[in-house]
Amino acid sequence: MGTGIALLSCLGRYSTCIHDPDEAALAAAQSTIGESLAEGAEKRWSEEDAEAASGRLRQVETLADLAGSDLVIEAAPEGLDLKRRLFADLASVCGPETILATNTSSLRVADIAAGAAHPETIVGMHFFNPPVLMKLVEVVATEASSPVALDAVTEVAEEMGRTPIRAKDSPGFVANRLARPFSLESLRMLADGVADARTIDRVVRIGGGFRMGPFELLDLIGLDVNLTIARSFYEQGGRPERWRPSPIQERMVAESRLGRKSGRGFYEYGAGRHRERDPDLGIDGPTLDPSELARIDPAGPEILPRLFAQIANEAAYTLEDEVATAADMNTAMRLGFNWPLGPLELTGLIGAERAVALLEDLRGRLGDAYVPAPRLLSGDDG
Ligand SMILES: NC(=O)c1ccc[n+]([C@@H]2O[C@H](COP(=O)([O-])OP(=O)(O)OC[C@H]3O[C@@H](n4cnc5c(N)ncnc54)[C@H](O)[C@@H]3O)[C@@H](O)[C@H]2O)c1
Repeated sequence: MGTGIALLSCLGRYSTCIHDPDEAALAAAQSTIGESLAEGAEKRWSEEDAEAASGRLRQVETLADLAGSDLVIEAAPEGLDLKRRLFADLASVCGPETILATNTSSLRVADIAAGAAHPETIVGMHFFNPPVLMKLVEVVATEASSPVALDAVTEVAEEMGRTPIRAKDSPGFVANRLARPFSLESLRMLADGVADARTIDRVVRIGGGFRMGPFELLDLIGLDVNLTIARSFYEQGGRPERWRPSPIQERMVAESRLGRKSGRGFYEYGAGRHRERDPDLGIDGPTLDPSELARIDPAGPEILPRLFAQIANEAAYTLEDEVATAADMNTAMRLGFNWPLGPLELTGLIGAERAVALLEDLRGRLGDAYVPAPRLLSGDDG
């Protein structure tokens, strides 16, 4: 991630230093950035811009070399102790004029900032993978982050050609949280016998208009990587039923069925394609038209409303928790996960009343993973 962020920084016309305690990783980052700049020339940026960007990059061997920086963006491995130590060291070399941003995806920024002498200078700057292709940056505000620091990193994200949104320092921030029901509700449908993984994926792609179904996405991300995220949400959120990790996924990880990287997850990855090309049914998703969904599969009219009801529910909880604005939530999912519509647009499609009726019915049968958010109960679908 650090390599991609540094590339964007050079292209954003910032003089950029990269640091990594692993010398080989540092050298690899420098050459990857050079190669990426050359490869993108004439396709993504001009040759002159690539050359100028390359001239702005410098390796530094110690953290002390970062003294005097306006902004430091940290992309070290995801571990609270490591990041806390790193921020303490950075604070001692940089002083209060330097803004310190973390690219953490799952830790609380305030926990990383705990004990810092100048917590107002610490913010989250959450990029998506790979940074050069993914436009979204979540600018994460702790209760202590100063407006000056937040505005400054917002401007930097824009200069990097990204689209920043503002997020409250809360479990998983915005996009990863709103993506929870995409995998979790699909796994619950699988457990509930609604359909098999292949069918659910097909309905979500054709009827939902999503580029990938939930199970092929899980296979791509890695079931183990996603399970770590699932567990972190569950614990940080105070163990709400709707975020309980799926027993199916737990079992598959225990059996080392991790997805593409292990050759087997919900699909088999041998030679050739893991799935057939979707037929052209002339359906322009996302749609909840039952006759169209039934043309994809008899279970179609059950699958998509159930998924959209849980997406609407998570969106309502996210708004209630004041994590982000409705507009930023829609932007987050369109840009961070390539959703065809944002979560509140999907709420509008299903309607609060229908979503609540579905959730109440499922709650009666399957329990508290389906407790509707008060905001949805009040009929608010925006
Ligand atoms: N990979 C993703 O999809 C993704 C997406 C968004 C955010 N993130 C976050 O970005 C961060 C980095 O993730 P990654 O996937 O690039 O990890 P990575 O393991 O690929 O890279 C981390 C790099 O940090 C270096 N490092 C180790 N200790 C360091 C230190 N004390 N100071 C500076 N560098 C140090 C390592 O040598 C390594 O080169 C994590 O916080 C992760 O949660 C990752």
